[in-house]
Amino acid sequence: MPTSLVSSLLPPFSSSSSPKPYPHFLSPSTSILLPRASLGSSNGRKPPPSSSNGSWVSPDWLTAISRSLSFSDDSGIPIADARLDDVSDLLGGALFLPLYKWMVENGPVYRLAAGPRNFVIVSDPAIAKHVLRNYPNYAKGLVSEVSQFLFGNGFAVAEGSHWMVRRKAVSPSLHKKFLSVMVDKVFCRCAQRLVEKLEPFALSGDMVNMEEKFSQLTLDVIGLSLFNFNFDSLSSDSPVIDAVYTALKETEARSTDIFPYWKIGFLCKIVPRQIKAERAVTIIRKTVEELIVKCKEMVEAEGERVDREDYVNEADPSILRFLLASREEVSSVQLRDDLLSMLVAGHETTGSVLTWTLYLLSKDPSALSRAQDEVGSVLQGRLPRYDDVKELKYLTRCIYESMRLYPHPPVLIRRAQTADVLPGNYKVNAGQDIMISVYNIHHSPQVWDRAEEFVPERFDLEGPIPNETNTDFRFIPFSGGPRKCVGDQFAMLEAIIALAIFLQHMNFDLVADQKIGMTTGATIHTTNGLYMTLSKKVAAEYASL
Ligand code: HEM
Repeated sequence: MPTSLVSSLLPPFSSSSSPKPYPHFLSPSTSILLPRASLGSSNGRKPPPSSSNGSWVSPDWLTAISRSLSFSDDSGIPIADARLDDVSDLLGGALFLPLYKWMVENGPVYRLAAGPRNFVIVSDPAIAKHVLRNYPNYAKGLVSEVSQFLFGNGFAVAEGSHWMVRRKAVSPSLHKKFLSVMVDKVFCRCAQRLVEKLEPFALSGDMVNMEEKFSQLTLDVIGLSLFNFNFDSLSSDSPVIDAVYTALKETEARSTDIFPYWKIGFLCKIVPRQIKAERAVTIIRKTVEELIVKCKEMVEAEGERVDREDYVNEADPSILRFLLASREEVSSVQLRDDLLSMLVAGHETTGSVLTWTLYLLSKDPSALSRAQDEVGSVLQGRLPRYDDVKELKYLTRCIYESMRLYPHPPVLIRRAQTADVLPGNYKVNAGQDIMISVYNIHHSPQVWDRAEEFVPERFDLEGPIPNETNTDFRFIPFSGGPRKCVGDQFAMLEAIIALAIFLQHMNFDLVADQKIGMTTGATIHTTNGLYMTLSKKVAAEYASL
């Protein structure tokens, strides 16, 4: 397909300018509602500059149309200059970066004309809070459209009462006892396996792409936790793993394809990317359906039934087993779709968090040595247990700080179901697509002191862990409101355990002269991988710490 057409309709991209320091995010003096165009001069109504090559598909042209149609617009929302110059060298790049540039130019709320759609871009914590808390008035909209091909009516994309019923059914499976069993049986074991797989690199001195390794690790973890299925992607390649990656890539591609050509049935039958995606979905669905059938047989044979809130089957502690043993009236297709939504939501996100945390630590020797010392003194050379995690305070804050600088996903999408007035008196019509730029909120010098710096201790080590409530929506890596991530605790435990075990066993250096660029998918990826050289720590090195 018309990739070029799709690309030409994408919004422009550009790198951001670096912001200046502002008050700390918790400073009472900081007004939560950012002033309009407070981050730069307001140019919301200035005439669009002419396109550099006059292409009819240039964003300049789209912006001009939007402006001409906006003569009767009383929304109070400025329109960003979407220029072709911004696009040309950034296609396939990081979509969220130009959103930052336009925030600097237009302030924390602006309209972006992007192909056939127009988005209101929000970079203000108070407006983010209003939109995220007001579900179902602000529905998932576009997100559901781009991922339905994979998880049908799974609860990560379902809407309304159907979503509520399924969320209520699934979230109890992630209880505390389940998480502590996961630590021992899955998180530690998979992280140990990662270390084993890295040992040959440590011995040979060959560089290794840690982004790839973390992605394999988190796929193995989520497969075991959800359906007790070992992808073993750290060791092998299989059609299922390939299919999972193909489907994940397709979801990411759809989320950045502003022109949704895949909605046109016959195109899906002839466009190679779509044919590949459909085949992948068939393989994944078949695998999960078979796992459900097998698990159902076992639950029936054993007459198993969830009899208390913290029920865990020791032999198979998976979420699938819990859901089947809870004997809820639910079709196998719904169960399959719920599990697939969790697979997608929980895999690449945690992998990316590990990647960027390792990158930030590799660039900051003093933070790294503080984290290593903490791991050494808390664990004393043994494997981490559930209760150790609350003692790994500094490492935990390194991970939160990494999620501030690299939030996954960098934007949250919603669609207004009714006309509304946003805080700051910005009017939106029913049907308006809204992008909350988590990246902008997390990088805004109006919201954060030393916004661009990696400062893990900005989150008080003795204070509560930061979340949307205690930061008043200044820090929203897991979103907020009713559609907040259900896997936040699971993900944090997984990431802390994986990093603790990695730091315990490996020294690492970033390969020199490597340009670590960012590219967008559902999460922030590196452009070319994260290459490290490793050396193994001798036992005495970590046991004596
Ligand atoms: C560090 C890793 C993770 C990050 C950064 C993350 C982030 C998010 C965010 C931002 C949302 C909300 C999206 C929105 O408001 O539109 C979300 C939703 C969700 N996440 Fe996570 N997530 C992570 C790990 C996980 C894991 C491990 C699981 C499963 C075990 C999971 C399951 C889900 C589900 C099912 C939803 C949809 C909830 C709903 O719509 O009711 N996530 N996640």
